[in-house]
Amino acid sequence: MGAQRIAIFDTTLRDGEQSPGCSMNVEEKLQMARQLEALQVDVIEAGFPVASEADFAAVQAIARECRGPVIAALCRTIPRDIERAWEALKEAEHPRIHTFLATSDIHLTYKLQKTREEALQMIREGVALAKSFTPDVEFSAEDATRSDWDFLVEVCKVALEAGATVLNIPDTVGYTVPDEYGRLITHLRQHVPGIDQATISVHCHNDLGLAAANSLAAVAAGARQVECTINGIGERAGNAALEEVVMALAVRRDALPYETGVRRELLYRASQTLANITGSEVQPNKAIVGRNAFAHESGIHQHGMLSHHSTYEIMTPESVGVRRSSLVLGKHSGRHALAKRFEELGYKLDRVELDKAYKLFTKLSDQKKEIFDEDLLAIVQDGLTHLPEVFKLRALQATAGTAMFATALVTLATEAGEATETAMGDGPVNAVFAAVDKLTGLSGRLLDYRLHSVSRGADAVGEVFVQVDFEGQPYGGKGASTDVVEASLRAYLNAVNKALFARRAKKSQAVEAGV
Ligand code: KIV
Ligand code: ZN
Repeated sequence: MGAQRIAIFDTTLRDGEQSPGCSMNVEEKLQMARQLEALQVDVIEAGFPVASEADFAAVQAIARECRGPVIAALCRTIPRDIERAWEALKEAEHPRIHTFLATSDIHLTYKLQKTREEALQMIREGVALAKSFTPDVEFSAEDATRSDWDFLVEVCKVALEAGATVLNIPDTVGYTVPDEYGRLITHLRQHVPGIDQATISVHCHNDLGLAAANSLAAVAAGARQVECTINGIGERAGNAALEEVVMALAVRRDALPYETGVRRELLYRASQTLANITGSEVQPNKAIVGRNAFAHESGIHQHGMLSHHSTYEIMTPESVGVRRSSLVLGKHSGRHALAKRFEELGYKLDRVELDKAYKLFTKLSDQKKEIFDEDLLAIVQDGLTHLPEVFKLRALQATAGTAMFATALVTLATEAGEATETAMGDGPVNAVFAAVDKLTGLSGRLLDYRLHSVSRGADAVGEVFVQVDFEGQPYGGKGASTDVVEASLRAYLNAVNKALFARRAKKSQAVEAGV
């Protein structure tokens, strides 16, 4: 008998996006969804449409474009939520409404102020309404692992009778342990009539660092869908990491006779894309995709590796898409080599994009000797965005020192021509931002600033992520350069351009609606 198939339900764009510093705009979510489509996950949870206009737009865009995976949208069991989810999803090739209600007494009492009977009624009505829109309906019993097991049996019965095709048993607060979680799944399989007609799903948070282990214990007990996120991002300590669950099933096929449909050689690329989009760096020792996951430092280990890689490697870096050397190109590499390398990294650039990328590449190779994959990824992420640039950087000069105020002189190209401003500040980055504010007439309040180097060496490209509040709305921006002050300016301008784009989009929507 062949290995049993486990469906991989990716919730990077919904639960993952809920983690601090990981919010994405519509274009960024679409870009990530394309990676998930290429990865061949079974389900992409694209968002929570009732939560905001932007969430709705992202789910709708992903539903329209992505083919292959099921596209899921989250909603409470409230009719308005369910209708909104369906509105966003209805053009998907394979839509799924994912509705949820908390079932633990803690949540029912303190959060919802509902009795168990009222909860059962809400589940019955919510699932039935979702079912009237689409045959594929998932119900999640939020905080299932702290719910009374007998009540959970009732909950599952009601959801099944109302038409749920997937029953999700989340460990919402990362509280359970593998043996207990496995027993809970077994208990439900033994006590809910007809449960094996539905898919049992698991969704684990990582508060005790057990999310992947708990998910695998549930699989061994009969769960056939695992909900997880790239790099394990998600509320608080995050969700089960997709790459960990997928690789555990692949590497330990002997102990866990299950398979997934995920293209494992694309895992690293998906991880890097997400880190680039959100600016949330992967911790170096992160399993599978961390920078050190395949690094061997001690002499004994290096000696072992030289004798045979199996001494200290349970999987090869190539099997998850990590190249042993990511040094790729230098100053003399041509357009053809660049296009080919981008293609290997998963980006098929059209002519215009390749022209732009090549320009950025030659500029970068004037500044640094060796260009790594990470540099190329920064080029696609930062240089090839399709955001209209109302303000473009033309020139920058900044000075700083121990016994002086920092100063900046910035020239921007605007729709009305070029303009220059100077400003002083508490450090060169602060001075640059102040000069930009003078030029754009917007006043930004910096909420977050992160700087990291994308590759190696003193001439490495620095990438800056900022989050800036303009008129009460936060906007993320990113910029890359070998000069960190310039990278900071580019990141800030990126946020400015996003704010202006959003302002104009809002205005034109209001005009269309005749407001
Ligand atoms: O953690 C959780 O319980 C959830 C549900 C909404 C599925 O994210
Ligand atoms: Zn969750």
